[in-house]
Amino acid sequence: MTSASPGNTRTPSLSHRFPRDFLWGAATAAYQVEGAAAEGGRTPSIWDTFSHTPGKVAAGHTGDTAADHYHRYRDDVRLMRDLGIGAYRFSISWPRVQPTGRGPAVQQGLDFYRRLTDTLLDAGIEPVATLYHWDLPQELEDAGGWPERATADRFADYAALLTDTLGDRIGLWTTLNEPWCSAFLGYGSGVHAPGRTEPAATLRAAHHLNLAHGKAVGVLRERLPATARISITLNLHQVNARTDSAADRDAARRIDAVGNRVFTGPLLDGAYPEDLLADTGQLLDWERLVHDGDLTEISRPIDVLGVNYYAPTIVSRPDSGTGDSGDDGHGSGAHSPWTGAEDIAFHPAAGKRTAMGWSIDPDGLHTLLTGLARSHPRLPLMVTENGAAFDDRPDAEGRVHDPDRIAYLHDHLAAVHRAIADGADVRGYFLWSLMDNFEWAYGYAKRFGAVYVDYATQTRTPKSSAHWYAEVIARGGLGRG
Ligand code: FCB
Repeated sequence: MTSASPGNTRTPSLSHRFPRDFLWGAATAAYQVEGAAAEGGRTPSIWDTFSHTPGKVAAGHTGDTAADHYHRYRDDVRLMRDLGIGAYRFSISWPRVQPTGRGPAVQQGLDFYRRLTDTLLDAGIEPVATLYHWDLPQELEDAGGWPERATADRFADYAALLTDTLGDRIGLWTTLNEPWCSAFLGYGSGVHAPGRTEPAATLRAAHHLNLAHGKAVGVLRERLPATARISITLNLHQVNARTDSAADRDAARRIDAVGNRVFTGPLLDGAYPEDLLADTGQLLDWERLVHDGDLTEISRPIDVLGVNYYAPTIVSRPDSGTGDSGDDGHGSGAHSPWTGAEDIAFHPAAGKRTAMGWSIDPDGLHTLLTGLARSHPRLPLMVTENGAAFDDRPDAEGRVHDPDRIAYLHDHLAAVHRAIADGADVRGYFLWSLMDNFEWAYGYAKRFGAVYVDYATQTRTPKSSAHWYAEVIARGGLGRG
């Protein structure tokens, strides 16, 4: 590891220059920052319902107000411009644009995203839009949600609605954010909305999310300008076997299948992996689930693969110790999210952890990126999320000093740089998150922002990491070079 002690000046001899056109970004997601949950015609999503259900989110927090980005987006864009941020990855709230998940768009919803996009463009910031960051219209969940095939069609219709208003303004589109979390945390462990714990429904959801992506790619390609780039963002688990034993290696294979290849297989290689089908075949009939033509649709070419990375995943053979809950750190429940691999043991890595309890392993990001570059050499990559929660507090002068976050970001950016030097075609990096926000099942207790949000007053204070990131961007890399 290359960690210098927090707060120290980084080794001046290190000159990590990034490619000239590298995209330096920051990311958020609609439900985590917007608030204005009942304004402009927006109706509840599964996350409104879930967060308003007692016991689902820490301290009963909801996204009703969040960071009030819906009203304060102009200030937030100005803040980004002042920091020199080159691209803003935000998500579009489906129930704000198409309240019931069916039928025509609501103009007020579209107008909000058009205003946001225009404000970004005026500030010289590239808008990067994600169509789905987990906020399914509640009515679609009431009709069965992602385990229902029809939801994939609804998603394609929703994608079409966005293209007329935003198609000429947004150059980079992402269909889904982390479909693993939507399927396996939403329908498997139930720690995310809609909070169901049904193994077969989890795998059905995964397939229909893949299908939704494929159908949306078809619609977007047809309707967007030829220059538009289309992507999907996956939280690929960097899975390591705890030892080299055959049993531990098989545990890693099984988690890789149900954590990664259930998506990368159909999306990038046009097929579900045989071992995944064998491992989960007792839970559902894959042949009935996957219709003729689905895989062709799902594997439509994309222009960029978004990768979100936070922490490594270390596993060992069934019943081999206590280990982590294996819930990928997004909250623990009585049910495992690892459908068909519930018996595998999970372990923390040695060393420091973030406030989420997530192990810190920058090398894992290098391994992930170079591995993808080897397996899919022609596919450009983008780190669409990376960052860390720490217990940030303003000092007496109101400043927020967050050396641990600076160290985390520094070391992960150095890993990205190393991956590029080793041949990975990484086009950009988005810090998660621009500002503190609603961290799903943890509510507002976990702060991932480079900008501190005082929720009582909605005051924004850039932390030291924001100033540090601004310098990195201005320099085009780490160190002095
Ligand atoms: C990712 C999510 C993002 C945020 C970070 C910490 O899995 O995409 O919304 O919660 O984790």
